[in-house]
This record gives sequence, structure tokens and C-alpha cells, in this order.
Amino acid sequence: QESLPAGYVVRPLARSDNQVRSNSSFLKTLEVLTTVGTISDDAFQRRFQYLKEHSDQYYTIVIEDMNVPPTSAGSATSSSPSLVTPGRGKIVAAGTVLVERKFIHELGMVGHIEDIAVSADQQGKKLGLRIIETLKAIGQQVGCYKVILDCSEKNVPFYEKCGFERKGVEMGWYV
Ligand code: ACO
Repeated sequence: QESLPAGYVVRPLARSDNQVRSNSSFLKTLEVLTTVGTISDDAFQRRFQYLKEHSDQYYTIVIEDMNVPPTSAGSATSSSPSLVTPGRGKIVAAGTVLVERKFIHELGMVGHIEDIAVSADQQGKKLGLRIIETLKAIGQQVGCYKVILDCSEKNVPFYEKCGFERKGVEMGWYV
């Protein structure tokens, strides 16, 4: 497996990831996908809590660049860039696998990969590949018989490099 750049870590999404550090947060990372909109900290915390209460169903992970020292007010006492504290870097990538419980295939489970995002200035460093590899491993570990996703034509080569193959047709109905 490819190693991450030095100082980068993969970890589950945390409650504190809504805080904007070094002009970057989990929600900001998602903006490469679509409109995120304005989400209050309270609303973020409620959604995070829901995910936590369904933690055998939602697995959201992030990649954090720990090389970035905290710049926000109040961090003056821990400003040494050599002393990295987990959760004090910059989120540069994110992704989710949602585990669906079925009746077919003897109560089989299917992993649905959703919302894969790598910050624009961090693309091409194999971070997307690492996110996908991690989500596939989670799906396999929890017992999914397959892991699937929908994507645009443009992203097909990326997902092929991640071990996926074309299957079926995606359809949508927008309310
Ligand atoms: N066309 C061809 N090859 C590509 C493309 C592309 N569009 N994107 C990546 N690759 C290749 C890379 O060259 C690399 O190949 P290599 O191993 O031969 O060097 C391999 O795929 C892995 O690439 P990564 O460096 O891991 O890709 P990156 O970190 O940039 O992540 C991603 C790819 C997630 C598509 C990123 O560019 C991104 O966030 N884009 C904007 C948001 C987006 O489209 N997200 C996916 C939506 S679909 C969904 O969420 C299910």
C-alpha cells in the first residue's frame, strides 16, 4: 500500500472537525464536491451525534496534514510546529462508507461509498486512493459482500485505479 506523505494521518471524523483551523475544516474540504452551504456549529454537532449513534452504519474518515501548525487565537501557548497534537492539523481529504443491511444474500450487507473529496491543492498525491482503500477495508471488515459507488464519467479512471469496475447505470430523481 502507498504510504501517506510524512505527517499525514488517516482517522475517523471527530466532533471537533467543524472548527476552522488554518482556513480548513471538514466542511470546507467537501466544497470540492458541491455546495455545502452555511451550517451552524450546533447543526453540525447534531448531525455528528446522529452518525455516532449509528456508528455501525456510517464510517466517515478524514486525512489530516499534521505539518500545519494551529494559527487560530488561543493556541499561542502551543505554537511550536514540531509538537503536533492530534486534531490540530489541517483536514485535506474525506470520505464515507455507508453500510446498508439487506434481506437478500442471506441478510447481506453492501457498502456505499459517498462524498469523496480531496482539497484542490492536495489532489494527485494519492490521498483519494488512500481514502478509497481505507473505506474498502472497512466495508470488507464489517462483512459487506460488495462496495459500490456512483461517479461522473470524468472520475471513472480514478476509481478504476482504485480497483472498481463499471457496473450498471446510475439514475437519479431530484426533488
Ligand atoms: N483521470 C485519470 N486518472 C486520475 C484522475 C482522473 N480524473 N484522478 C486521479 N487519477 C489517477 C491518478 O493519476 C493516480 O494514478 P497513478 O496511481 O497511476 O498515479 C490515481 O488515479 C490515484 O489518484 P489520487 O492521487 O489518489 O487522486 P486524488 O487524491 O486527486 O483524488 C479525487 C481523486 C477524489 C477524484 C479528487 O480529485 C477530488 O476530490 N476531486 C473533486 C471531487 C470529486 O470529484 N470527488 C469524487 C466524487 S464521486 C464520489 O464521491 C463517490
